[in-house]
Amino acid sequence: MPNKTTMKLTMLTLLHSLVGLLLLAFAGIIAPAAAARGGGGRWDLLQRSIGVSAMHMQLLHNDRVIIFDRTNFGRSNLSLPDGRCRRNPRDLVLPAVDCTAHSAEYDVARNTFRPLSIFTDTICSSGAVAPDGTLVQTGGWNDGARNVRTMRACDGDDEASCDWIETQDALAVKRWYATNQILPDGRAFIVGGRGQFNYEFFPKADVSDSSAIALPFLAQTTDPEENNLYPFVHLNIDGNLFIFANNRAVLLDYRKNEIVRTYPELAGGDPRNYPSSGSSVLLPLKPSPTEAEVLVCGGAPTGSRNSAKDKIFTPALTTCGRIKITDASPSWVVETMPSPRVMGDMILLPNGAEVLIINGAMDGSAGMESANTPAYAPVVYRPDHLPGYRFEEQSSTDIARMYHSSAVLLRDGRVLVAGSNPHIYYNFTNVRYPTELSLEAFSPEYLDSSNDILRPKITDPSPAGAPVSVAYGDSMKLQFEVPTPTKSVHAAASIGLVSVTMVAPSFTTHSFAMNQRLLFLDVVETTAALNRAGAYEASVVMPATAVLAPLGYYMIFVVNGHIPREGTWVHIQ
Ligand SMILES: *[C@@H]1O[C@H](CO)[C@@H](O)[C@H](O)[C@H]1NC(C)=O
Ligand SMILES: *[C@@H]1O[C@H](CO)[C@@H](O)[C@H](O)[C@H]1NC(C)=O
Repeated sequence: MPNKTTMKLTMLTLLHSLVGLLLLAFAGIIAPAAAARGGGGRWDLLQRSIGVSAMHMQLLHNDRVIIFDRTNFGRSNLSLPDGRCRRNPRDLVLPAVDCTAHSAEYDVARNTFRPLSIFTDTICSSGAVAPDGTLVQTGGWNDGARNVRTMRACDGDDEASCDWIETQDALAVKRWYATNQILPDGRAFIVGGRGQFNYEFFPKADVSDSSAIALPFLAQTTDPEENNLYPFVHLNIDGNLFIFANNRAVLLDYRKNEIVRTYPELAGGDPRNYPSSGSSVLLPLKPSPTEAEVLVCGGAPTGSRNSAKDKIFTPALTTCGRIKITDASPSWVVETMPSPRVMGDMILLPNGAEVLIINGAMDGSAGMESANTPAYAPVVYRPDHLPGYRFEEQSSTDIARMYHSSAVLLRDGRVLVAGSNPHIYYNFTNVRYPTELSLEAFSPEYLDSSNDILRPKITDPSPAGAPVSVAYGDSMKLQFEVPTPTKSVHAAASIGLVSVTMVAPSFTTHSFAMNQRLLFLDVVETTAALNRAGAYEASVVMPATAVLAPLGYYMIFVVNGHIPREGTWVHIQ
């Protein structure tokens, strides 16, 4: 065993490819009980009711989660403060007056929430966080279809009162079921939506710019069920946009409006986008990446939406497709999940070694009253494990999270789970799956107390402080501590392979976490700090370009083996 005060580990980027192997080695020491318990991870009910059902969620860099639903269902279970009311003659249900909130801000650390005001309809809309950390929400329906609403990460004097700001008709066209992706220059790329086979950008250089750019691929991939809504969009490492709709994808050079690559159909040809909602992630990127992979999981066979109208609930898809989007002529590799899933959310866990597939149903499709059997148990997918050893079922919740539910990663490594409302209104009685107003947290297995001995605590920059500003290519020092081991068996393992990840928080709605991105940073060196047992300093290099990591706020995690602790915010500008 090396002497800890003199130990010096040099971590070359190469070593990241060993992460999978090392995890296997670690697994024997630290997680013997996961399978025996009948699924790893833990569920906690955080709030029985926040009064609003979480159709859309976004974590901001003040550790508040902005949650919003829609305005066209009547009263919510959360009153607006100070006797405030919404008077909107164009509201379809309560045109005279509505004194309830359709949005809330959740304070993660305090486990509290407060009402926020949304004026027009945000149903099935989209969003992205601008480089300055403001949530920019776009579209919706009816009176809100072309609106843009912003919500700042409020801190300081006005943190208890600041609220949404709404701009009427700021979009070129109506965006209902569209997808947003933040671009290297900080603008949002907004694509698709019902009847919209086109894209646009926001903000616009000229506010009166009402042009939308045609994307025939969306017309080509629509079908009688419109199974290409909420397309899956990922910013590729070459700066182009990977756009998956229905059962296939293209690579779009949005600067030239040119399709630069056409990907093959995902084997089987089943639809993966809303309402046959599967989900998708860009898998974690290595330092200075030369390749990028996309994973698409679940969905529903063609016709599932229509048969659900006759109360016939078709089993959901069990397959995932994985593809190297950077290859000139790539093909899909199909893998099979332990169980079928539609409307699942896919969340990149901060250790960079696991993708969580959570929420949704085992049959039916997205849409009102369109699914019958909840998928209560999440599944973990480990991209670096050998094929056949990648999926592991986790412990179950007993709350159905079906249509209009969502999930986001928190900075403490938990996953916040909320929402589910398969009804047109808020219905709590006489329905099989009542409107869900509760908040739960899923704590992945790495948060088990049995892993505490390995847990790296970042001490500098302090996770409690203001986000640190960094620039592209900057080196950054991260000091962290690992609890001093007491048993010799743990000593050798107490600092194993240290990796540092950087995660962009997602805008999650309708089973897709928009703008989600995880990068492994290049760890140049990890050294033991002199004179302090268990203290270390890692020197990391920020991504080189805005193509790899668009401007904005990210969470940085130090990961020991596969064990993270809470991350720290940084601001790339
Ligand atoms: C919401 O309010 C309704 C009507 O006041 C009530 O019946 C219902 O139980 C409430 N639901 C929750 C989850 O608080
Ligand atoms: C839900 O509640 C509304 C009234 O608030 C009622 O009209 C509707 O029938 C209910 N829906 C279901 C599915 O029970």
